[in-house]
This record gives sequence, structure tokens and C-alpha cells, in this order.
Amino acid sequence: MKPYASLTKDEQRAELKALQEKYAEIKAKGLSLNMARGKPSSEQLDIVSDMLTVLSKADDCYDGKLDVRNYGELLGIPSARALFADILDTVPEKVIVGGSASLQLMFDLISKAYTHGLLHSPAPWAKLDKVKFLCPVPGYDRHFTVSASFGMELIPVPMTEFGPDMDFVENAVKDPDVKGIWCVPKYSNPDGIIYSAETIDRFIHLKPAAPDFAVMWDNAYCIHEVIGDYVPFPDILSLAAAAGTEDMFYEFASTSKVTFPGAGISCMASSVANIEHVKKILNAQIISFDKVNQLRHVKFLKNKENTLALMKKHASVLGPKFTAVLDALDKEIAPLDIATWRRPKGGYFVSFYAMPGTARRVFTLAKEAGLVMTNVGATYPYGKDPDDSNLRIAPSYPPLDDLKKAMEIFCVCVKIAALEKLLG
Ligand SMILES: Cc1ncc(COP(=O)(O)O)c(C=O)c1O
Repeated sequence: MKPYASLTKDEQRAELKALQEKYAEIKAKGLSLNMARGKPSSEQLDIVSDMLTVLSKADDCYDGKLDVRNYGELLGIPSARALFADILDTVPEKVIVGGSASLQLMFDLISKAYTHGLLHSPAPWAKLDKVKFLCPVPGYDRHFTVSASFGMELIPVPMTEFGPDMDFVENAVKDPDVKGIWCVPKYSNPDGIIYSAETIDRFIHLKPAAPDFAVMWDNAYCIHEVIGDYVPFPDILSLAAAAGTEDMFYEFASTSKVTFPGAGISCMASSVANIEHVKKILNAQIISFDKVNQLRHVKFLKNKENTLALMKKHASVLGPKFTAVLDALDKEIAPLDIATWRRPKGGYFVSFYAMPGTARRVFTLAKEAGLVMTNVGATYPYGKDPDDSNLRIAPSYPPLDDLKKAMEIFCVCVKIAALEKLLG
């Protein structure tokens, strides 16, 4: 196989014809495959299902002397705060343990900023004419949806292999209407990028014009290695504290991809002053989150070391799937010089860049052949990828055999779309 661009028009036409025949054969099989969902497979859920029995009687429901069956402990039971502090390398005083989803804590913090204001807000954001938010792209669609749902203006920030383009960020924060940024600092969604030490250093020394600028540090994949050993990652809160900027950082994490997505536990970690501020508002909102589930998680996960050992079991299921995706791309697409992709060592996605102007076509071809992908553009604010290039591959959910079939279809679609484009 030679790079497509180096073929003559006749050769390109012949190749397209052969691929169209292959595509028709695939389509005739009437397959139904899905590479859209970044969620654990049932095999992974089985690995953690002993958690369902760790609390089976009244005596089990104590966190020390605390009876978790009753009201109380607004910021989470002490052992759950300690567990997340251990995982994030911070201290329990800086951790609020919430309900079953970190996204809800993120939405809630933004909501509080609008209604009550953050610790350093001169006014609640709802009183402002304009609120702008920085969105590194490609990024996590639900972050953008949170911002868009409050009517913010979303500003795309280019991603580099070291994290968001910090020249861009440093310049953008000079605008006082720019109130924050979405970050997934380890194994970013979808690129799988780990922010470099320099990027982190520039973050903690950021000097935004807005006194209440919020860095939404969504550490969703903090312990989610797929290939290779655990990669330690700096605690943003202590680094920021040393730089005098800790109040700017709100860190989030959850057990969604550790135990049960949608039925796990989540946390927000921030400066003690921010936690106190949020606590006051939270006090009007809820008496306590689900402490029974918090204790169930503590009993099952125990501590960071034990949780990392569990993540190795997840990796033993996920690793071969990521490898299958990368192998298919290396074999089928790499020699043709029509696309690029990242090789993540963790997280939940493989980010693929089709020939510019062809991602939508790839998506449609795949869909018509029975393969569902994440919506094209979902990884960009307002659903618009200016290059029409990025496709997010989610290898986790389908069984390995299905995934291999899905990748075969995907590669055929990528090739057809590229040839169509080259042939005009
Ligand atoms: C970056 C990121 N943050 C948050 C979430 C959702 O986490 P939770 O289930 O805790 O709301 C996801 C899920 O895909 C994600 O990719």
C-alpha cells in the first residue's frame, strides 16, 4: 500500500472501486456495532461487583462511630474524604465527597457561581452581561454543554501535545469576561494527553483579570492507566498553594470508571477557603449525600494502593482493546498517509484525525454500515469541528471480537472518504 496522494487518479479510482465493493459486502451483513460510548464493559462491571455485598447488615454501616444510615456529614464521611485525598495526593480537609457523578458537582459549582458567586466573585455571574469560558479542543462534550446551558460564550483553545496552548490561555485570561477553563489534565478526553510540568507551572502562575477565574480541573482519569504502570501526577492544590493561587482551582474526580458509572461516588477538591464557601451554599441545598454508597466504596476500595491494583484489572480488559484499535490503524491506515491518531496510555478514548473535510462522511458511511460512532463535532464547542476531522473512538464497551469488526468497517470508511475527497 502506497500513500493515497502518490497514486495516479486512475489508481485512486481503482482503489475506491475495490473499497466500495468491500463496503457493500460489509453493509449486506446487517451488523450492529457501537464505538461511541465511553463506558466500561460488563466484564469490567463484573470485576467490581463484590462491592454489592460489602454492606449487608446494620453492623456494617458504621464509619468509626458514625452511622452512615442517618443524616449528617454534609461534606462526606471522613473515610471517603480520606480515600479521595489519598487518590489525589491531597488532604481530606480540601475534599467534598458528593453523589454519584462528578459532572453534577461541576454543573453545581458553575450554577453556584451564577446564583451566589464564587469565593472571590464581585457579583454572581448571572448579573453579568457576558461570561466567557475557555474550552480546550478537542475536549469533553459534556463540559461544553454545561457552559452552553448557562449561555456562556465558549472560546475554543487549541490543544498541544503538552496540554492547552498556554500562550493562548495567558492572553485570553486578560479579558475580565473570561471566567474559567475546562481542563482534563491527565489522559485528556479525547486525546489522552497528560499536561506537562511546564503547562502545570504556567497554570498555577496564571494571572487572570477576573478575580473569580475558575480552573475546572477535571481529573476524571487520574488513576486510569490502560497500557503500562501508574503514572504519578502532581497535586495541583499544593502546587497552586505554594504559588498563592489555590483558590483558582477546583479539582474533580469520581469512581465512575473504577466501580459503577452512575452509581459510584464523586468528589470536588479545592482550597479550604473554597470548600468553606461552597459548604455554606450546600447547606441550603442538601443534608447529606448518599453516605451508604460512600462507605460501600471505602470498604471495597480501601485506599489508593488497593484501588490502583483494581485499576490493573480494568487495564487487563481495556489494554487488548486499545491495542486492537491501534493495530488496525497501524496496519490499514498508516501506510496511506491520510490520517493521524494519538496513542494514549490511559483514559477511555483514541482520538482520530481523518483527512480534513472527511469526518462527517466517515461517520455517515460507518452508520450506514451498522457502526455507531460518537457524533462528529461533539468534541468541539457548539458541535462544530472547523476542520471536520476529529473522530472519537471509544474501545471500552464492545467485546474484543466486535471491536475488531468495528475497526475493519471504520478503516474502510476512512479510506473511502479520503479517496472521494482526493478525487474531488
Ligand atoms: C473528562 C470526563 N469528566 C467527567 C466524566 C463523567 O464523570 P462522572 O460519571 O463522574 O460524572 C467523563 C465521562 O466520560 C469524562 O470523560
